[in-house]
Amino acid sequence: MILLLFPLVFASLTTAIWPAPAVYEHGNDVVWITRDTEFKWAGAGKVGYLKTQEPEYPFEAIPNHPQNIIHERSDKKRVHLKAPTGKEMVEYAIKSAKHTLFNRNFVPWKFHPRNWTEPVFDASISKVYLELLGQDPEDIAKPLAGVVDESYQLTLTEDSKNWILHIAANSSVGIVRGLTTLTQLFFASENSPDGHAYTTSAPVRIFDAPKFEHRGVNLDVSRHYFAPSDIKRTIDAMAYNKLNRFHLHVTDGQSWPLVIPALPELSAKGAYRPNQIYSPSVFNELQYYASIHGVELITEIDMPGHTSSIAHSYPELIASFDKQPNWDTYAAEPPSGTLKLNSPAVFKFLETLLNDLLPRVFPYSSYFHTGGDEVNKNAYKLDETVQSSDPAILQPLMQKFIDRNHDHVRRAGLTPIVWEEMLLEWNLTLGKDVIIQSWRSDEAVAQITAKGHKAIVGNYNYWYLDCGKGQWLNFDPSISASQYPYLDYCGPYHNWRLIYSYDPLTSVAPENQHLILGGETHLWAEQADASNVDGMLWPRAAAAAEILWSGAKDAQGRNRSQIDAAPRLSEMRERLVARGVAAEPIQMPYCTMEGMVCQLGYTP
Ligand SMILES: *[C@@H]1O[C@H](CO)[C@@H](O)[C@H](O)[C@H]1NC(C)=O
Ligand SMILES: *[C@@H]1O[C@H](CO)[C@@H](O)[C@H](O)[C@H]1NC(C)=O
Ligand SMILES: *[C@@H]1O[C@H](CO)[C@@H](O)[C@H](O)[C@H]1NC(C)=O
Ligand SMILES: *[C@@H]1O[C@H](CO)[C@@H](O)[C@H](O)[C@H]1NC(C)=O
Repeated sequence: MILLLFPLVFASLTTAIWPAPAVYEHGNDVVWITRDTEFKWAGAGKVGYLKTQEPEYPFEAIPNHPQNIIHERSDKKRVHLKAPTGKEMVEYAIKSAKHTLFNRNFVPWKFHPRNWTEPVFDASISKVYLELLGQDPEDIAKPLAGVVDESYQLTLTEDSKNWILHIAANSSVGIVRGLTTLTQLFFASENSPDGHAYTTSAPVRIFDAPKFEHRGVNLDVSRHYFAPSDIKRTIDAMAYNKLNRFHLHVTDGQSWPLVIPALPELSAKGAYRPNQIYSPSVFNELQYYASIHGVELITEIDMPGHTSSIAHSYPELIASFDKQPNWDTYAAEPPSGTLKLNSPAVFKFLETLLNDLLPRVFPYSSYFHTGGDEVNKNAYKLDETVQSSDPAILQPLMQKFIDRNHDHVRRAGLTPIVWEEMLLEWNLTLGKDVIIQSWRSDEAVAQITAKGHKAIVGNYNYWYLDCGKGQWLNFDPSISASQYPYLDYCGPYHNWRLIYSYDPLTSVAPENQHLILGGETHLWAEQADASNVDGMLWPRAAAAAEILWSGAKDAQGRNRSQIDAAPRLSEMRERLVARGVAAEPIQMPYCTMEGMVCQLGYTP
């Protein structure tokens, strides 16, 4: 039995792991995993598994349909007091991996010719050993970028007729990532009455580690409200793609769904409906749910722009509220309105808001996002505390506004994140700790890093998932012809290949590339809600997940190949569908069944 080097171009006929591991060698033996396969877990500091008689945390076989551990705990008003420990994360990941292997797996007929028959039951894995090689950092569930080592090794080897699967990692999150990979080695069986799963790639040797530390999805839950179950399904799918940052754009001009107990009117009047809210217990549950998956939920309160929903409860704090019909003079979207820039009442409000919210964020995150995009200067002409749109007058006021917020964020033990305009358009002096989230261009990323700031990328020409659906604004018949065919500002639709072609390091000078923490894809929700969120996100966010985990270049330093990626992404799509995520197909079965038939430009 020899280990073959992963044959890239025939990926469609073998086990596809998404995102691609750094090193993946495998053979082509069939080995089964059954519900009786024992998972043994030796925690940090314990002797290696070979000498351990009893596992430290033995796991019983889980019941057939343990949906209860995965979804819908939020209605139970249970409040967690702190983030899960590494041990709790691994325990959860073991249950989740078994659930995936035996209840949420898929039969891979789409990846074989029509006359394919699945292998018969034969050798099976006797044990899965998990081995933590080091001590977890204290903030394992809420790390700053770079604090947690997410690398892992996975081997599946035969030892005197015994197949043993071994995962070793320096941190509990590494073990969690390895368990995710484990599930992707196995397929559901059509014929096994007991629901056993099999791999066709044994033996296996994987070493894997992420290229970028910050791998995220940003979901806007203000333009449309998303139920906690939809958000949890999104987090589950993210973790399955080894994404580790969930950016929750939780308020905006259109609605304020986040309940702030110290300012109850904010959501009582600012949410679309009284039940379209995130109560403290639901918010707590979402943060906990993310962190137990090794995903850090990062909360954004966008300000001073994108705040007009505050005017429903505190009209005195907002300038230029809901100007019609020329709202576009004052804002990027209706309703216009911005927090007043030089108002003691606004400062008092923000103190109260942050005093309430930040201590609830702190147990689950090391970051807080204070927004800062698309601030409209005209809006301050109608702000009686400023009465000007002159950048020379506004700039020092904005500096004070942001300094005040960032000092507050730091006092709460958190690191601020802002949108790029604060640095590049407003020329603010920001602390070196502040992370700049870029969206407008690659040149912006180059400028941010040239100024010595850490950056999160996500150029809207590539990584905005809302683009290309066409306008959501309506045009009067008198101007309608001039707007034909009603395109949005960032179309065309960014298909997965375009997303996959984006290199976060593009245009960044080599000496500044260490400042790129990673990136996020963004789903702005003017035209997305529960009905289409899965298809809007998946599998396109998965394409970005592979760029962020595996890098934009392959092992030979070439741009990653769509021909290699497409069948693997198709397989990932099947795996997402099997776990209840309505991810869209990217090819027809004909293409994946017949192997190398749906491409152009490939010469063997
Ligand atoms: C399936 O069909 C192909 C093409 O006709 C043939 O080469 C192959 O041997 C068949 N495989 C099986 C398992 O029957
Ligand atoms: C664990 O840490 C060691 C020492 O830094 C490193 O060599 C190794 O690649 C890391 N990852 C794994 C999975 O062992
Ligand atoms: C920031 O600097 C640029 C270039 O010097 C200038 O055009 C712009 O007006 C400045 N912005 C503010 C808000 O002062
Ligand atoms: C690789 O991708 C980049 C975009 O990230 C593109 O500019 C470049 O031309 C590609 N290189 C090749 C050899 O196709």
